[in-house]
Amino acid sequence: MALVSAKQMLNDARDGHYAVGAFNINNLEWTKLILEVVEELKSPVMLGVSEGAVKYMGGFNVVADMVKALVEALNISVPVALHLDHGSYEGSFKAIEAGFTSVMYDGSHLPLEENLQKTREVVAYAHERGISVEAEVGSIGGEEDGIVGAGELADPKECQLLADTGIDFLAAGIGNIHGKYPANWAGLSFDQLEKIQASTNGKPLVLHGGSGIPVEQVKKAISLGVSKVNVNTELQLEFAAATRKYIEEGKDQIGKGYDPRKLLKAGTDAIQAKVEDMNKNYFGCADKA
Ligand code: 13P
Repeated sequence: MALVSAKQMLNDARDGHYAVGAFNINNLEWTKLILEVVEELKSPVMLGVSEGAVKYMGGFNVVADMVKALVEALNISVPVALHLDHGSYEGSFKAIEAGFTSVMYDGSHLPLEENLQKTREVVAYAHERGISVEAEVGSIGGEEDGIVGAGELADPKECQLLADTGIDFLAAGIGNIHGKYPANWAGLSFDQLEKIQASTNGKPLVLHGGSGIPVEQVKKAISLGVSKVNVNTELQLEFAAATRKYIEEGKDQIGKGYDPRKLLKAGTDAIQAKVEDMNKNYFGCADKA
């Protein structure tokens, strides 16, 4: 199946009271593994790629061509959207030109009027080409690719204005942060989420910073309109821990254990278990494709 826009899959998730996992990819191994898992689970999926990861992998065309070729070679039948995560204004256009099927334009650091205006421009360009658009107001806490946010609750009125630009889904801070949650984290603000949901007329909502949020909180957020959950750090931690264990146990020194295909397997297998667990037990999107 060809890559698809995320509009339909997130509207379906909203109506069906589940969420689609948006997993960040960093290399070929992660991409292949995630595609194999979602095919097995019959889950729709979004593959999130930050501009840092785009640069790391060699550019927008490399990423788009790799993902398209893997989807075809692996006979993937579930809907897959290739999504730019926290895109810049210029990056959003470049991603669309290269074949991404969904973009997040993140103008949350700009004055509101400028964010609204630039979001409208990205929406016009994307929608002419059948590409879905996510945008953000307020800022999600934590650090991602050098962009640091303070952890905020988005203003429902601003959410409404951004939703009215014609975007397909909206990222709004409800106390979530990127990266590891500190021990004294207050948790998600469901009051705020309810207000945002009420002001945005059923627009599917996105929960960034999906790593390490207790399962009950994720489920409650989904019941209140969250239709996409972004996960990056948790997969990185699983990958790093399993790789460390492999080396500390000296497995790279046994036979040809140093072969990168073997060296990267322990971490990749660890990601597999995590993606399965999240899709089945957190997001409820198994058997939804
Ligand atoms: P985490 O790295 O905290 O999972 O957040 C991912 C994310 O929100 C990507 O936009």
